Amino acid sequence: MALPQTFKALVVSETAEKTFVREIKQRSLSDLPAGELIIEVKYSSLNYKDALSASGNKGVTRKYPHTPGIDAAGIVVTSTTKMFSAGDQVTVTGFDFGMNTSGGFGQYISVPALWATKVPPSLSLRDSMGYGTAGLTAALCLIRLMASGLTKESGEVLVTGATGGVGSLAVAMLAKLGFNVVAATGKEGEKDFLTGLGAKAIISRDEANDTSGRPLQKERWAGVVDTVGGNILATALKTAKYGSSVAACGNAMSVDLNINVFPFILRGVSLLGVDSVQIPMRARQMAWTKLAGEWGVDLSTIVKEVALEGLEAEIEKILKGGVRGRVVVDLSR
Ligand SMILES: NC(=O)c1ccc[n+]([C@@H]2O[C@H](COP(=O)([O-])OP(=O)(O)OC[C@H]3O[C@@H](n4cnc5c(N)ncnc54)[C@H](OP(=O)(O)O)[C@@H]3O)[C@@H](O)[C@H]2O)c1
Repeated sequence: MALPQTFKALVVSETAEKTFVREIKQRSLSDLPAGELIIEVKYSSLNYKDALSASGNKGVTRKYPHTPGIDAAGIVVTSTTKMFSAGDQVTVTGFDFGMNTSGGFGQYISVPALWATKVPPSLSLRDSMGYGTAGLTAALCLIRLMASGLTKESGEVLVTGATGGVGSLAVAMLAKLGFNVVAATGKEGEKDFLTGLGAKAIISRDEANDTSGRPLQKERWAGVVDTVGGNILATALKTAKYGSSVAACGNAMSVDLNINVFPFILRGVSLLGVDSVQIPMRARQMAWTKLAGEWGVDLSTIVKEVALEGLEAEIEKILKGGVRGRVVVDLSR
């Protein structure tokens, strides 16, 4: 397949006044970094981290102009390694992709082969981005919780930030697997959405955010998927049942965790850190296999699809915690 000279991409640039502007532009293929794989991106998706990169957060992206997008699914056009051949369908997530390496909000990418994973045959490229990094992270949380002893019989499992990308997929996957899921949300109006995904009960963000200052609370959760951090994570630890585990993967509320050691030393609660960026390839492939198989969920109510031109509104929305579910970006439009 012949490569084009230029391709369409979202480009974020820093102005002389240190503000950031987002434009859709034609970029030259020769501007991409040297990589073992050149991939034609068919779909990408929007994650919270992309919105940070797209708005000039130097903790995520140091140098601009930059094309964000930490997720991409597409077709290998050229490969200099035996691991992949032209025509292979792949996802690219994690590592430096979309952070300081040109990302999935452009129609072509150039990456090291180790950043790519072959898409399982039962998963479409579009659905692979319906999951994306959010789905991978939700799956990794479930893998860690189950490896720590969580079963369907253990009791209620809390998911915080439940209408977000990671949260909504965690709710849907847990429900599909037969767990008794409780969703914590700040969006009063999204109860039907969450019960539609399979949540058995819904609690408000306030209820999940104990401000009493007490070191321990009544035990309730047999397991927790926490996507928000801060005092909600502290509350989850204080209300986790004896011997249970809390998987922490996000910081939508705060990066801080102010708690004493009582949940750990009096109730044997475990805090499981979950990272999707640097995890070894075998764990990544295991999670994708689960998503393509028995953990796969109905994405129709979770996914909203936009073209590159539609991203602007979604970036603004996700920065305010206002996105429901997942936003998939169709790069062919
Ligand atoms: N560890 C990893 O490898 C990894 C991978 C992916 C994502 N993450 C992190 O996981 C988090 C979720 O990512 P995402 O892509 O799912 O983001 P998202 O779609 O924006 O979802 C975050 C959700 O958190 C809740 N929320 C937002 N602001 C909040 C606040 N101030 N206090 C309490 N809750 C708040 C909202 O849900 P409700 O309105 O329903 O409460 C929101 O929808 C982010 O912090 C992201 O950086 C980590």
